[in-house]
Amino acid sequence: MLILGIETSCDETAAAVVRNGKEQLSSVVSSQVPIHRTFGGVVPEIASRCHLELLPEVAAEALRKASIGYEDLDGVAVTAGPGLIGSLLVGLSFAKGLSLRCGIPLIGIHHLEAHIQAVKLEHPDISYPAVALVASGGHTGLYYLPDDRQITGIGKTRDDAAGEAFDKVARLLGLGYPGGPPVEEWAVHGDEHAISFPIPKMSDGSLDFSFSGIKTATMRYIREEGIHPVSEGEPPGSRSDIADITASFQRCAVDYLVQQTMTASAKHAVVSVLASGGVLCNSKLRQQLMHQGERAGYAVYCSSQNLSTDNAVMIASLGFEKIREGIHHGLDLAASASLAMSG
Ligand code: KG4
Ligand code: ZN
Repeated sequence: MLILGIETSCDETAAAVVRNGKEQLSSVVSSQVPIHRTFGGVVPEIASRCHLELLPEVAAEALRKASIGYEDLDGVAVTAGPGLIGSLLVGLSFAKGLSLRCGIPLIGIHHLEAHIQAVKLEHPDISYPAVALVASGGHTGLYYLPDDRQITGIGKTRDDAAGEAFDKVARLLGLGYPGGPPVEEWAVHGDEHAISFPIPKMSDGSLDFSFSGIKTATMRYIREEGIHPVSEGEPPGSRSDIADITASFQRCAVDYLVQQTMTASAKHAVVSVLASGGVLCNSKLRQQLMHQGERAGYAVYCSSQNLSTDNAVMIASLGFEKIREGIHHGLDLAASASLAMSG
């Protein structure tokens, strides 16, 4: 069964063809990052316009690379939410047109469930129950997976997402957008114990996250110490103050993500820990999760860097699973900026 996946929830226009939910025949991701970089973050209106221009060609390229035509498809899976509403609508309208034109099933996909699917796709032998961490630029949350099929949200961020905190700190330091990669590059050269930013504690013992405290503490430090942003072209490590701030911030954010994931895993007595989303490109986070998870006796599975950031392979793969479960949607399928997991 050949499924075309379409992903347009944020600033990546992506399409992929996956056979039987597992075999990736093609994956095309056209990033709008260079366009949004000028504004220091994603501009929703520009994102939707770019998706509109790029998607037909991105989808055609995904089919070309898979050496198939539209008539060979058995279904089209598309992100229905959560995400930027205008951007979601572009993908959804395209998928509906295709479903109608080719007479193939349409399946609306939950973006965060798809991030978790990316881990399952690469690791077919996961044992359950499991806890999954999804940490990206738009969302950060913990999920409980009693078995291979069910997913329940058990914690989510009450303010900023983890990636958003990296992006905001990077912006203050003049490191550009998106902030995760340059923060990591600078952090390599710094002392992660130089500044002790506070790790948030949920007073009610909940598994929610709050990244605004770490971000505000970092902002205050930068202001009080009179730190100047880096100038264009300054190589990572060329200034020890910036290197120390990035290393200390990164340690704090990583420790926090790992601590909450370990607390959730103990609370739900799981055997496996899954992790995905753009922030999982961070090597420190991957290492710490592996190290602490395995020390606590869990099997830890992270998606590869290619499948951690937004892509359409995870959408097509989950679409296949949904079709197998007999789920598909009508042309009245709506996009939702804050789609619930059961949607
Ligand atoms: O999953 P993703 O590609 O898009 C969303 O669904 O948001 O995640 C993008 C986020 C950005 O905030 C980016 O700064 C962050 O992932 N990110 C990183 C790293 N690479 C990307 N954060 C920390 N360290 C990295 N190496
Ligand atoms: Zn995402």
